[in-house]
Amino acid sequence: MIKMTRAATVGAAAAGLMAFLVPNVMASAPGHEHPAAPAPGGGPHSKPAPSAQTLRALAQQAGIRIGTAVNADALAAEAPYAAKVGAEFNSVTPENAMKWDAVEPTRGTYNYTQADQLVAYAKAHGQLVRGHTLVWHNQLPSWVTSGDFSAAELRDILHQHITAEVTHFKGKIWQWDVVNEAFNEDGTLRDSIWLQKLGPGYIADAFRWAHQADPKAVLFYNDYNDDGINAKSTAIYDLVAKLRKEGVPVQGVGIQGHLDVQYPAPHDIADNLARFDKLGVQTAITEADVRITLPADNTEVEAQNEAYQTLLEGCLLTRNCTDFTVWGFTDKYSWVPGTFSGEGQANIYDENYQPKTAYTAISQDLRLAGR
Ligand code: XIL
Repeated sequence: MIKMTRAATVGAAAAGLMAFLVPNVMASAPGHEHPAAPAPGGGPHSKPAPSAQTLRALAQQAGIRIGTAVNADALAAEAPYAAKVGAEFNSVTPENAMKWDAVEPTRGTYNYTQADQLVAYAKAHGQLVRGHTLVWHNQLPSWVTSGDFSAAELRDILHQHITAEVTHFKGKIWQWDVVNEAFNEDGTLRDSIWLQKLGPGYIADAFRWAHQADPKAVLFYNDYNDDGINAKSTAIYDLVAKLRKEGVPVQGVGIQGHLDVQYPAPHDIADNLARFDKLGVQTAITEADVRITLPADNTEVEAQNEAYQTLLEGCLLTRNCTDFTVWGFTDKYSWVPGTFSGEGQANIYDENYQPKTAYTAISQDLRLAGR
């Protein structure tokens, strides 16, 4: 039903959205508020007008899901955090709770406590769950990285891990990020433990094993710096095309969307996503955030709003782009300051749960696409 709604509306909205995609038009576009001149419901720290619709209501009208990564500790401990997750989003991704080190910290011993809590929360709030992530080079427990296993043993370990985790959540996960960040920027495969020990075939194996464990979950390849058309996104495109020809069950491509206002926004994102539409796979923006070198000035805040819109518009203009997920919604729990020295303010709410102008920018785009 959702796709039907958007199919009917997105074409009409496309002209308006395309205008937003042109930077010079954006600056003077009607309704595109400058942060220094807040309009009703639109200032940098103002609350939306009481009649304002939530992001999830607007996204539903626009025919996509809007999601957030969820910090399991904050969800359990902080009522205002949990209230926003439930009210504003209709999809959730565990920020860390489904990663290998969280789920299987020692060999064969699984801990799903936090992930199960999020899945239950999502069910209670009418939200879908993106599973994240099964095969990655980061957040691996040391028993995996230092085990000195033979290729056959490690392949078996990977098979077991995928089968156990996907089976545990069978029927509860909408989209799984099966393989995460397997490529380098130049389009070669990352020299991870998986490539080193198992060779490039680990990617197809992972998708096959995940599909066996939950045939209904939509299986994604997920990466960063693949927003526009470049060596990395082309390598992903080529791999997905090849795998699908071979009958490997890869059904989606995730564009993480970790941006930084000091670099140009990916204005060719819709062209990139259109390639994947033609391959017959879904796409999604899976981890959007836009970081700023602190202290942020008004120009940087405006660039941030535009970067969020560039990502979202790319999705709204793409028939099979199903969802737009922000990597955390509040600056209070962002991964950015701990990872990128001197940078921050990357999210759509400030540390006090007040919506920022990026929130308004996203609302405007969703409203336009939903008309
Ligand atoms: C990050 C989390 O946000 C942090 O809390 C954690 O310490 C490291 O990982 N790409 C991904 C995500 O696919 O899983 C990462 O999440 C951010 C980059």
